[in-house]
Amino acid sequence: MAVLRFWLWALVLAAASALAKPGDPFFKKLNEKTYQLGNDFWNVTVIGGFGKRLMYNGVDLVGNASGHYVSYNGAANNLSWNLSPPRIVRKSGEYTDIMFSAAEGDMHWVLTPTLLGAYQYFVNRALPRLGEFRTLWRLSNDTFTHGWTTERDAPLARLAEMQEATQKTGDETWVNAQGVSFTKYDLSTFLPNIEGEPTVWGIYGKMPKSGEGIGSWYIHGGKDYLNGDHLKQELMIHRESITGDAVQLNMIHGTHYQARSNDAFAPGKTWGPWLWYLNNGSAADALARARTETAAWPYPWHADERGYASRGALSGSLRLSDGRPASRAAIFLGDTNATAPTLDQGEGYYYRTYAGADGSFHIAHVRAGNYTLHAWPGVGSGIGDVSTVFRAPVTIRSNGSATALDALSWVVPKHKPLFQIGALDRTATGFGLAGGRHEHARARGCPAALNFTVGVDGMEKWCFAQGQPGTWAVRFKAGPGDVGPATLTVSLAAYSAGASAGVYVNDERVGELGPRTLGPGDPSLYRSGTLAGEWRFLEWPAKVREGENVVEFRIAPNSRDKANAANIAMRGFMWDSVLLRLN
Ligand SMILES: *[C@@H]1O[C@H](CO)[C@@H](O)[C@H](O)[C@H]1NC(C)=O
Ligand SMILES: *[C@@H]1O[C@H](CO)[C@@H](O)[C@H](O)[C@H]1NC(C)=O
Ligand SMILES: *[C@@H]1O[C@H](CO)[C@@H](O)[C@H](O)[C@H]1NC(C)=O
Ligand SMILES: *[C@@H]1O[C@H](CO)[C@@H](O)[C@H](O)[C@H]1NC(C)=O
Ligand SMILES: *[C@@H]1O[C@H](CO)[C@@H](O)[C@H](O)[C@H]1NC(C)=O
Ligand SMILES: *[C@@H]1O[C@H](CO)[C@@H](O)[C@H](O)[C@H]1NC(C)=O
Ligand SMILES: *[C@@H]1O[C@H](CO)[C@@H](O)[C@H](O)[C@H]1NC(C)=O
Ligand SMILES: *[C@@H]1O[C@H](CO)[C@@H](O)[C@H](O)[C@H]1NC(C)=O
Ligand SMILES: *[C@@H]1O[C@H](CO)[C@@H](O)[C@H](O)[C@H]1NC(C)=O
Repeated sequence: MAVLRFWLWALVLAAASALAKPGDPFFKKLNEKTYQLGNDFWNVTVIGGFGKRLMYNGVDLVGNASGHYVSYNGAANNLSWNLSPPRIVRKSGEYTDIMFSAAEGDMHWVLTPTLLGAYQYFVNRALPRLGEFRTLWRLSNDTFTHGWTTERDAPLARLAEMQEATQKTGDETWVNAQGVSFTKYDLSTFLPNIEGEPTVWGIYGKMPKSGEGIGSWYIHGGKDYLNGDHLKQELMIHRESITGDAVQLNMIHGTHYQARSNDAFAPGKTWGPWLWYLNNGSAADALARARTETAAWPYPWHADERGYASRGALSGSLRLSDGRPASRAAIFLGDTNATAPTLDQGEGYYYRTYAGADGSFHIAHVRAGNYTLHAWPGVGSGIGDVSTVFRAPVTIRSNGSATALDALSWVVPKHKPLFQIGALDRTATGFGLAGGRHEHARARGCPAALNFTVGVDGMEKWCFAQGQPGTWAVRFKAGPGDVGPATLTVSLAAYSAGASAGVYVNDERVGELGPRTLGPGDPSLYRSGTLAGEWRFLEWPAKVREGENVVEFRIAPNSRDKANAANIAMRGFMWDSVLLRLN
């Protein structure tokens, strides 16, 4: 009996595994405008520009939501796959590459027989000069109830909360009946886009009826096609405030936290392949998958004639002119001849890393080509007094060997500052209320007026942002040897237009913080930023006298601030560093 039972059981298993043997991915034309693709585990129907009816375990994960699409300049321009009929362009091993063409470029889905989700990439043909370019899923909100980012794991705000809000106070920002403000921008994060780090975010919930977990994620094994530097932030996920869709954004050229970011792309510029990944809703599993994808980048299966496989490595070592190693400096490979700051570069391919404690760095798999290497003090680097940026040209060759940059020397100012509040790391790290996750109107906790005494107060007394009418003052004593012409350096982590400050040294006006000196504002302070935005760096001549000195930032009361009382804390300056140095 036992033996028979064993054989019956073995037979059942064999039959089940024969049944479960997955077939090739499929691609079908249903009618002139409608196509279906998928594998044995999931499928999606593409109608016009939109992916609808995402079927998985018998459930439509899109439902009444908008589904999958590609757009630029917000929702103003949705791509339409009508340039030529979509088709399978390549089958290599288990990978099937299906291409949808729009006038602007080609969107590819790469499926395998067993992959839950698809690799996706986009090749530019004729995108206009633009700011925001993205792909996204808008999924069923019955199923996808929660969101996960590196900063938050939480339910998405309900549409009803927005509809029942007593007031809309700004950009996607509401106040509820209890007087509490809420905004989608709390769901923003720094990307992450550092070479070698896992990059993943998603939305998840429970399948109707079965109650099984379900998650939909974006995973970027590669980061080089993304715009911006180490401090690039983006909105990752949110509740759509008109329809209530659960939104999973993929901001491949994002501008949510920048003052000016506008790029023209060469034909052939390729974003991806990234992985759109379905699982049971486990963030731990998605994170593990992100680590696997990062280690596997650049993907050997991705056959591409546009330079994808032509890569080399870069190694180097960086030392300051005063002899110190450029310990933990932020290292960025960016455009040659760029006029845009590193955060706003986005037409090409970019590499971001940090030097080690000894100033050495290594970047693997850099696309062949010419770059400008930039270095500045990273957070916690110990070289936060360095007010210069290092730049050097770099050429990467495509034979896979390493390019060595030996003992590059970074020229730094000779004199130590008389005082410095905050490291010059382009972030508000260490100031009062700075950092942690994105949070609406954090600066409301900062005072209107503040006195800081050098040598007495710790840097946390200097709050991370100033925006209300009032004076912030730095008081310091200078000995007889420390008098004379000096340079006042003000480095801002971010600036949101709507407040201006006069800058005074010993009651003499030396400069101004405002649109005339800072240009257009960036949205970071009113979009839940707590650490950085668009970096600004200003220097003014000043005179230091013997004894008591005072540096002041005076925001005068102005009508706009009064009229806009609810937003008062979301306009103004986020600090990076204030320092004074004798010439
Ligand atoms: C799509 O997936 C659903 C289940 O999730 C399945 O019922 C259907 O047969 C699939 N369609 C195709 C063409 O395989
Ligand atoms: C989708 O919309 C239809 C018609 O408005 C409605 O009957 C149905 O319940 C909706 N489905 C879901 C999943 O919300
Ligand atoms: C693009 O698609 C989205 C989602 O369906 C929609 O809300 C938006 O209005 C569309 N834009 C245009 C210009 O049609
Ligand atoms: C889901 O979307 C529907 C509209 O399709 C909306 O009525 C509902 O409030 C949304 N649910 C949530 C939790 O926001
Ligand atoms: C998802 O599956 C993993 C195993 O692959 C399991 O450890 C985890 O508990 C599951 N999570 C959920 C939310 O079902
Ligand atoms: C950069 O500028 C130099 C000098 O102006 C010029 O010769 C070179 O062609 C430029 N390179 C690129 C890539 O634009
Ligand atoms: C890169 O720079 C080198 C010289 O520094 C030049 O010979 C070469 O043409 C440049 N390559 C590109 C693609 O601009
Ligand atoms: C790589 O290319 C450079 C110049 O293009 C050459 O000097 C070097 O010998 C090559 N290295 C290998 C390992 O082929
Ligand atoms: C700062 O110091 C000045 C001069 O002592 C004083 O008038 C002012 O009230 C102080 N401000 C605060 C907020 O303590």
